[in-house]
Amino acid sequence: MWALRRLASWLATAMASGAPLAAQWPNGITVDQTPHNLTRPASNPNPEMAGRIRNYGEVCVYCHTPHAGPSWLVGPRSPLFNRPRPNASYRMPAHSGSQMIQDPSPGERSRLCLSCHDGTVGLDRAINRPNHYLGPGPANQTIDACEGCHNGGSPAGGINWEGVWLRPDMRKQHPFSVLYDPSRRPGQFRPAAGNDIGGLPLFGGKIECATCHEPHSQQYRYFLRRSNVGNSLCLVCHTSPPSDPVHER
Ligand code: HEC
Ligand code: HEC
Ligand code: HEC
Ligand code: HEC
Ligand code: HEC
Repeated sequence: MWALRRLASWLATAMASGAPLAAQWPNGITVDQTPHNLTRPASNPNPEMAGRIRNYGEVCVYCHTPHAGPSWLVGPRSPLFNRPRPNASYRMPAHSGSQMIQDPSPGERSRLCLSCHDGTVGLDRAINRPNHYLGPGPANQTIDACEGCHNGGSPAGGINWEGVWLRPDMRKQHPFSVLYDPSRRPGQFRPAAGNDIGGLPLFGGKIECATCHEPHSQQYRYFLRRSNVGNSLCLVCHTSPPSDPVHER
């Protein structure tokens, strides 16, 4: 119920803000001004874009439904998710010095992101489409196809989104769905206070994608929860700057 109320009030705010500020997009602080507004590519007039994503006329519906229908994520902060649960054959991050306990496959909270970013589920596969939408069903194009053109080269112009497709083999990615337990690496990690590590949320004590990312705001690019200038995001948890990058292919 709580999540539903939050959703409703966010929705009201999003609608009250009126037309998206084109000049700010995709670096705005509300989700309609970010790359997570899928009505934007869906209505892009370039012929290359025709039919790749359906325009459901609403921003949130690609990820949420206001009615507690098909959501497969339950519990605190449950965001009434409106997408199928992705279920690829995942390989989890593997790093030589790792000591903390990592789930054998992605946790449900991280699967929310993977339902678009692992390239197995079509971007417009909303389970409940809005009642006022009477057009055809999902075009079902997956994110790997977007990256094929939006990679900084020809033929596509626009934004370079190389790297947005995280393959199900995630051995080189940053550990996630991992129980944050600094006592297993004394001196190398900072203490957490419950489900909070320096302002970043843990989910049941675990690091998930949304620990570092806030999928509704580009206040900091890459949907980060805070700026990473001078490794400042990394240093919220690590006591010294890590040498390897956080996502790698
Ligand atoms: C691209 C997908 C996506 C879109 C679009 C999106 N969200 Fe979310 N939302 C998520 C994910 C993933 C989570 C879970 C991560 C978390 O808890 O921070 C979430 C969590 C939430 C939560 C609960 C967590 C919290 O911070 O309280 C609310 C409320 C919410 N979204 C509202 C909205 C509204 C309203 C819109 C449209 C204006 C919207 N979202 C658009 C992906 C999306
Ligand atoms: C509904 C599908 C969908 C969901 C769910 C989703 N994303 Fe995305 N995300 C996209 C698309 C589409 C893009 C833009 C890239 C493209 O069009 O190829 C994108 C872009 C991004 C980018 C790059 C932004 C930039 O500045 O270049 C990041 C980072 C990202 N997403 C993280 C996340 C995280 C973390 C979650 C979960 C909390 C999430 N996304 C959930 C569809 C989604
Ligand atoms: C066949 C190549 C091709 C594919 C595949 C493709 N696009 Fe595009 N896209 C383009 C071209 C060309 C433009 C127009 C570029 C411009 O106006 O600068 C464009 C424009 C866009 C824009 C608006 C312009 C910008 O970059 O800000 C978005 C957003 C976008 N595409 C997202 C996507 C998403 C999401 C997908 C995957 C579902 C996708 N594209 C797949 C070629 C492609
Ligand atoms: C420990 C923090 C952290 C976690 C956990 C994390 N990310 Fe990221 N992510 C980042 C940072 C920082 C960037 C900015 C670019 C970089 O440094 O690689 C980023 C960039 C991205 C990008 C943009 C493309 C790229 O490679 O630059 C996507 C997409 C993305 N993250 C998705 C995810 C998803 C999905 C998950 C969960 C499976 C996740 N992230 C978990 C910190 C994190
Ligand atoms: C939310 C806390 C958190 C943040 C923020 C964070 N990390 Fe980590 N990082 C961890 C945890 C936990 C591990 C796994 C430790 C283990 O299993 O022993 C880890 C492991 C790593 C590893 C694997 C090698 C090792 O020492 O285990 C690298 C590389 C890494 N992080 C880089 C980064 C980078 C780069 C950033 C900033 C972009 C970052 N991390 C941000 C918590 C975090």
